[in-house]
Amino acid sequence: MDFFEVINNRKTTNGPFDPRPISKEHQRILMESASRAPSHFNSQPWRFILIEDAKKRAAIADLAGRSMEKLIADGLFFERYRPYFRFSEKELEERGDGIHFDQLPGPLKPFAKQIMSPTGVEIMRRMGVPKMLGRDNRDLVAGSPLIMGVMLDKAEYIPGKLSGFYSIFGMGAAMENIWLTTHALGMGIQFISTPMEIPENWQQMIALLGVPDNLELMAVYRLGYVKEAQRRPSIDWSSRHRKRLSQYVFRDSCDTPESDDL
Ligand SMILES: Cc1cc2nc3c(=O)[nH]c(=O)nc-3n(C[C@H](O)[C@H](O)[C@H](O)COP(=O)(O)O)c2cc1C
Repeated sequence: MDFFEVINNRKTTNGPFDPRPISKEHQRILMESASRAPSHFNSQPWRFILIEDAKKRAAIADLAGRSMEKLIADGLFFERYRPYFRFSEKELEERGDGIHFDQLPGPLKPFAKQIMSPTGVEIMRRMGVPKMLGRDNRDLVAGSPLIMGVMLDKAEYIPGKLSGFYSIFGMGAAMENIWLTTHALGMGIQFISTPMEIPENWQQMIALLGVPDNLELMAVYRLGYVKEAQRRPSIDWSSRHRKRLSQYVFRDSCDTPESDDL
């Protein structure tokens, strides 16, 4: 596959995966791609855990679903992420960032903008939206043949120290390698982020994965082979929109935005 084709078409997979297990060969390629990433002094501070065991995947799915339900019911989700939601194509085009919020259940559509207010949260609660989104999330995770946790070695990952920053930087590069590789292998990947948002649920995740004291669990993902037709999910985390060059590149001084026609 052409390198730039992979870069340009990498994306977040929102929908269900094909339930086929990921071949061991592909799992090895993913892990070796991660290890090719740069790291400070070649320290390779990342560690990965691959989970195929059906019972463990079901337990993680249950935790993700419960976390999503609670985040929506308590209004925390929209409170935290309000700045990233765009309500029209026009807003998306102008800003070039964020994700489009247009997939609400039918009866809620007229209230899209109010959905982030306490009244909106109350309406959603009455309509059973938290339960529905929780169930969706649980099913997506349970139906994913591979779950992956990424951890950092605490000898390197020391928050507040330069090596802590470097470790996160290196992990980001390793994760991007994995992300690009999934695309080249006909696979997809998505964050399972909801348990991380609730400290006691994150502790449960750490226990489920048997993370030892010398490692910090940083993120959990679901992976699988992609299906052809994808139904757009209730919350669409993927976006093809990007800022224009003049919105994020400067020339010679930060006073001078680069031209969009570079
Ligand atoms: C640090 C980080 C956190 C993210 N958190 C989530 C998340 O919680 N759930 C999710 O589905 N996607 C998550 N994403 C994916 C982004 O939503 C996605 O990359 C962005 O909307 C652009 O879409 P694309 O990946 O399809 O190009 C995250 C990405 C990064 C780098």
